[in-house]
Amino acid sequence: MIAATAMAMGGFVSGALWNDTDGKHINAHGGGIMYHDGTYYWYGECKGDLTYRSPGVGWECYRTETGGVSCYSSKDLYNWKFEGVVLEPDTTFSRSDTHPTMVVERPKVVYNESTGKFVMWMHIDSPNYGKASAGVAVSDSPTGKFTYIKSFRPNGQMARDLTVFKDDDGKAYLVYSSEENRTMHISQLTPDYLNTVGTYTRNFVDKSREAPAMFKRGGKYYIVSSGCTGWSPNEADYAVADNVTGPYTQFGNPCKGKDADKTFYGQSTFVIPVQGMRDTFIIMFDRWNKRDLIDSRYLWLPVTFEGDNMCVNWTESWSLNDFIVETK
Ligand code: DGJ
Repeated sequence: MIAATAMAMGGFVSGALWNDTDGKHINAHGGGIMYHDGTYYWYGECKGDLTYRSPGVGWECYRTETGGVSCYSSKDLYNWKFEGVVLEPDTTFSRSDTHPTMVVERPKVVYNESTGKFVMWMHIDSPNYGKASAGVAVSDSPTGKFTYIKSFRPNGQMARDLTVFKDDDGKAYLVYSSEENRTMHISQLTPDYLNTVGTYTRNFVDKSREAPAMFKRGGKYYIVSSGCTGWSPNEADYAVADNVTGPYTQFGNPCKGKDADKTFYGQSTFVIPVQGMRDTFIIMFDRWNKRDLIDSRYLWLPVTFEGDNMCVNWTESWSLNDFIVETK
């Protein structure tokens, strides 16, 4: 059920209903952005209309039927055109990873220059989150359709919340909550981005971090993450490293202002490097509505820096014009 006032189309309004260019709410949760040939693509979880509690699971395991992965495109980051469900759920085979009864979360897409393919990684899980695997799909076009390849435990290790980071040298990395969400692993992907290489680093050991969002600024690597409290908000943390695979030093909560200790009732999912604007980043949070997951909202906030320290100030509404620092 969706009901609220719509977001303005020339700026970001934190937590407001955000409609696409057809006037329908954007259904792309746990999302990530890929910039390709002058266009931003937003991929996210396409939530089903009905939220229910997974039967027989002790914790607050609220879910919807998996509607696959949706894609929206934009030139300006405010106005988004629906490009369709680019990874469709498999309704034909009840044991398929992408069957509506399964969990398909946090899709992220990167372009592989050497193969010319768009590669999607996502968290694949069983209805009680026991499968704890990463799934991969591939497409010739950013708007799909993506062909689902497989799920597996990367390097034989559990994977739940995940993201993919592509470095300037074309190498890509899978960052995933592992070891029952206690420790975050970072594993390089093979040159075709379709597998992990077999080695990984262990980060935030026994710190129980999830919802990773990774970016690079000034030669340093940043990971923003949340604690592990299901759909309920908690305090964010950011960590910085000189090397992509760590070691990472944690610096605590980057959020400032009202409800900063609850990440403004949001949870990290991605950090967007704004094209053409030096050192300009937008952090994307999901504000989950656990009893009506399709009506979860989006908080996109500007990231500011003092030296290498990052800061996310609460802002009701803003636009990129407020934050122009220097054009490239
Ligand atoms: C927290 C994760 O960050 C979400 O993506 C989702 O898996 C929920 N847990 C499920 O409770």
